[in-house]
Amino acid sequence: MNNQINSEEVIYQVYPKSFLDTNQDGIGDLKGVIQKLDYIQELGVTTIWLNPIFSSPHVDNGYDVSDYYTIDPQYGNMELVEILIEEAHKRGLKILFDLVLNHTSSKHKWFQEALKGPDNPYRNYYIWKEEEEKGKLPNNWKSFFGGSVWEKESETGDYYFHLFDKEMPDLNWQNESVRKEMIKIAKFWLGKGIDGYRLDAFIHMEKEPGYPDARYADPDQLISAEDFFANLPQVDDYLREFSASIREVYPDAYLLGEAASADPERAVKYTFPKGEACDSIVSFKYFPMDTTKKDDRFPLENQEGKLNVIAFKQVMDEWQRKVGEVSEMTLYLNNHDMQRVVSRLGDPAEFREESAKTLATTMYLQRGVPVLLNGEEIGMKNLELKRWENTRIERIHEVYATLLDRGVTKEEAQTYLGSISINASRGAMQWSDQNYAGFSTIEPWSGVNQEAAYNVAAQETDTASILTFYKQLIQLKKTALFTHGSYEMLISKSPIMAYRRQFEKEQAIVVSNLSGEPQESLLDLTNFKDQDSTLSVGNYTYNNGKIVLSPYASLVIKSDYKGS
Ligand code: NOJ
Ligand code: CA
Repeated sequence: MNNQINSEEVIYQVYPKSFLDTNQDGIGDLKGVIQKLDYIQELGVTTIWLNPIFSSPHVDNGYDVSDYYTIDPQYGNMELVEILIEEAHKRGLKILFDLVLNHTSSKHKWFQEALKGPDNPYRNYYIWKEEEEKGKLPNNWKSFFGGSVWEKESETGDYYFHLFDKEMPDLNWQNESVRKEMIKIAKFWLGKGIDGYRLDAFIHMEKEPGYPDARYADPDQLISAEDFFANLPQVDDYLREFSASIREVYPDAYLLGEAASADPERAVKYTFPKGEACDSIVSFKYFPMDTTKKDDRFPLENQEGKLNVIAFKQVMDEWQRKVGEVSEMTLYLNNHDMQRVVSRLGDPAEFREESAKTLATTMYLQRGVPVLLNGEEIGMKNLELKRWENTRIERIHEVYATLLDRGVTKEEAQTYLGSISINASRGAMQWSDQNYAGFSTIEPWSGVNQEAAYNVAAQETDTASILTFYKQLIQLKKTALFTHGSYEMLISKSPIMAYRRQFEKEQAIVVSNLSGEPQESLLDLTNFKDQDSTLSVGNYTYNNGKIVLSPYASLVIKSDYKGS
């Protein structure tokens, strides 16, 4: 099949552990994904990105891979992967696997060999540093998961390097054998028929030579020294070598890179020219937050605040100009590493329907490739935390007790803890109003929100539901105007965001109110207002040609384009 992805694609992220459990062990599995392929196809998406399914001790839900050539038994086996690929392709759906390039599990045989000593041929697959001064860490860099990036290995007393958990040692990409192994793995699964990869944390493949201390830190303080281990120039070389090697055999392989801290300039480096590096990348920099808007009943340091709409418009405008014009930028609202969109950027209490639909309209009708997270299409909110395991919140019981002492209700405390938990967006998919939302017949590993109106069964038959809206929006997105059209941000007073798309003889204005108050846009839409609105959320009226939008309302108005 022709598996080339272009801007007509719409990617649907499936977090397999939380998608559907078919053998009732509380963990989602591959059979679950296969069972729901029709559902995914009906959404109108074109591609599935599956989070890691390779063998893993699950210290980090599969991002700690112990064998890249086998499927984790909790998800299934090779036969099921083959069925998944075949059944997906039958439905015109492509599959991207998640490839972890920067590190392996400490249980991976390479690391197990490396532990045998400095003379072992696999020692140099990882990054080691001898202890220079007793008890002193090699430098002051802090790991993403807390503590130092260095862990002392007991036999030799040498330290090994890990940016994430200490059970996830970083690979040494300067070693050609490592680069070749990764290319071999990538080709193996492409040979099985998958259509490409989401490349995990690839921006960290190179570290500053000599591992110097970050000087801007206080003495004895560990610091997240991104400048020394993110987006270094060699990353570009590794990426291009990787891409060229696999595209020699699989020219259409699609690469979606995770580049959390990439700015637009870096994003261009990673995606241009087409076919030489990634096709598109996900940067975490799309959502500037207004940190003055916090709820002081809860610890302030863990809260992000609210979306800063003015800054958000600037960021989108900049990315659309600098990246959107040269390669396919991604358009996304959430993923498994961040809170669910309706909780983080919308208003799940008062305007859940409107904010879910309007945020999607605003984001996805821009130029670029939408990447949806499973459950977003039914307006799932953050997990209400009722279980304390695997949350990565330190001393969670104490925090919970303190909140209750302060008079915060149990529900509010659970909502807050859910929002700061690593599992915020990893709650079980809500399929129906049955027990455990139809995900399983036993308690899901993550916990689950059970909500009468927010499940697939309830929304499938409701023409006004978020799910129905998403299907309409995706169809609209796939038309030439929104896949190929030019983009122009329009001036309008925040919290209104408005932009114009134009392609050949058609144009459209997308205008949204990103707030919980009615807003009048400054745009004079006199020439547009007689046209039918193609898609709308909430209510709108006109005041002397200027549109007035109810809270979280939005509108797509199409009209003929007669040239400038
Ligand atoms: C990024 C992934 O999205 C995240 O979930 C994971 O913890 C890290 N990379 C480490 O692989
Ligand atoms: Ca299962």
